[in-house]
Amino acid sequence: MIGFMCGIVGYAGTAPANGTSTPAGHQALDVLMEGLRRLEYRGYDSAGVAVVAEGGIAMRKKAGKLANLTAELAQRPLPDSMTGIGHTRWATHGGPTDKNAHPHVVDGGKLAVIHNGIIENYAPLKAELLQQDHTFVSDTDTEVAAVLLGDIYRSLPDDGSADGARLTRAMQLAAQRLEGAFTLLAAHADHPGTVVASRRNSPLVVGLGDGENFLGSDVSGFIDYTRRAVELGQDQVVTITADTVAITDFFGAPAEGKEYLVDWDAAAAEKDGFPSFMEKEIHDQPEAVAATLLGRSDLEGKLTLDEMRIDADVLKTINKIIVLACGTSAYAGQVAKYAIEHWCRIPTEVELSHEFRYRDPIVDDKTLIVSLSQSGETMDTLMAVRYAREQGAKTIAICNTNGSTIPRESDAVLYTHAGPEIAVASTKAFLAQITAAYLLGLYLAQLRGNLFQGQIKDVLADLAKVPAKIAQVLANDGQIKELARSMADTRSVLFLGRHVGFPVAMEGALKLKELAYIHAEGFAAGELKHGPIALIEEGQPVIVVVPSPRGRDSLHAKVVSNIQEVRARGAKTIVIAEEGDESVRAHAEHVFYIPETTALLAPLLTTVPLQIFACELATAKGYDVDQPRNLAKSVTVE
Ligand code: F6R
Repeated sequence: MIGFMCGIVGYAGTAPANGTSTPAGHQALDVLMEGLRRLEYRGYDSAGVAVVAEGGIAMRKKAGKLANLTAELAQRPLPDSMTGIGHTRWATHGGPTDKNAHPHVVDGGKLAVIHNGIIENYAPLKAELLQQDHTFVSDTDTEVAAVLLGDIYRSLPDDGSADGARLTRAMQLAAQRLEGAFTLLAAHADHPGTVVASRRNSPLVVGLGDGENFLGSDVSGFIDYTRRAVELGQDQVVTITADTVAITDFFGAPAEGKEYLVDWDAAAAEKDGFPSFMEKEIHDQPEAVAATLLGRSDLEGKLTLDEMRIDADVLKTINKIIVLACGTSAYAGQVAKYAIEHWCRIPTEVELSHEFRYRDPIVDDKTLIVSLSQSGETMDTLMAVRYAREQGAKTIAICNTNGSTIPRESDAVLYTHAGPEIAVASTKAFLAQITAAYLLGLYLAQLRGNLFQGQIKDVLADLAKVPAKIAQVLANDGQIKELARSMADTRSVLFLGRHVGFPVAMEGALKLKELAYIHAEGFAAGELKHGPIALIEEGQPVIVVVPSPRGRDSLHAKVVSNIQEVRARGAKTIVIAEEGDESVRAHAEHVFYIPETTALLAPLLTTVPLQIFACELATAKGYDVDQPRNLAKSVTVE
């Protein structure tokens, strides 16, 4: 389920007889704006609202935070209405502009649509709709869904009823044609009082009121008004009016939702019931990886980037890749280096952005710069990208924030679709960055002919299995949490790994430093004997990321020897190993198993217990894991 991109809210209330609001029937706009305020954590690129009024749709939308929409509404108020939809966006297709903001209004100004998710087949649908002389004003996949819905709506007979049956039917038919992940909400001027929604792989909850009903991407969208909620199933359509809630499947067969009482307060609702954004974001990771993989191939099954302004011929002549990033993003880059060199046979360096710029690096027009940045605003990385461009290098940004500065100043962009990361320390963006960098590696290998299409398909198939495996790791977090709590007084932890496990070890150490303020270092296990082993004394905790014992040139035996070496000197060994690897048990105080995967994909799993460990240990020490001391989410100064 693509659960975190964009916040959506819908409302249908009762018009009071005397034209004023009653407790049972609020003004739609008030409900929508309150819901959007609570949902803003899901996205803040742009926001918009549409209400049904006087035979038409009245709509306002604005790029930037919700405050911009509030200011717009103060200048250009909307008419009174009891029905409407609202959206706060985290851009995936199309930059964060006024034009790309939701709602999208089509059908001669009568139909308003908002969307959360990614519509995978928007390109062929758009081509089809263009052939039928439809026009598009935005770059979004959402507008394609809106135009499709409008087109289907108009092809259905006018049944004369205001109850929305025609809009419901159109929504069912449109949903049947859409692939990917979507929650769609629609309001039509011909059916005032009705909001229709559909969902597939993307969340939608109904809020039950008295003489009013609500829709939200989660309960925080309506928590100020009701705690009675209905959970919708997969592939369902729901039609709400002030007094009715009707659920069907995509083919019109009646369906049931599950009613429940929300027992969270509003603040917990924003965190999906988790105590912190950090924990929520750690749990978002199956979706972050799945969403980053979604919709990345064209009609022929070939990989595509979001924006590519580099000629394929130029990419074929690249003789060096330099990955630029800072902090956690740089560790994602180090993981990616192993895969890119293996698949593309292009020498790949990973350099901290701030070091790169000041060392007179060798960069020319045959160098491809790949920048990794969650925020897209990290000044060190931005400056390094600018510098490389000045030297004639081509630049590709891997970024989580649509329309931010680094992608805007790069030649090509591949967005990670992790959704907004609110906790200061990065978790889900890291896994999404590795995923996206792998897609880029496969893209280059495809373009340059380093891999056969079948090999690329195999890697993509393995990647597709990763989200469920991350979910498995998350479901078994009890043991690692217990260990973390028992180690709250620890003063120093060492992390060891080899190959892709080395950057994972460094990332595990960084998380512990940042969240729990404990001294921690990540080392390449092979480096131990060259110095760090001197640190080992009785009781020193050492966390070891062990590679899979499967495979021909397995490093497994070497890492097991490293565990023995530190243990012989008194270390308390904590091991992350692959399911079924019994050989490590004899050498470890604690073993945490992760599901089987290929060597290159293992970091997408082995990182997760390390994040949980740091988060739980910091929580046990009573620290604020969302806002660790001295740190800022976007480092916009050098
Ligand atoms: C660590 C962390 C930082 C960032 C770094 C780069 O948890 O979040 O190390 O990874 O500041 O930030 P972005 O990716 O926004 O460029």
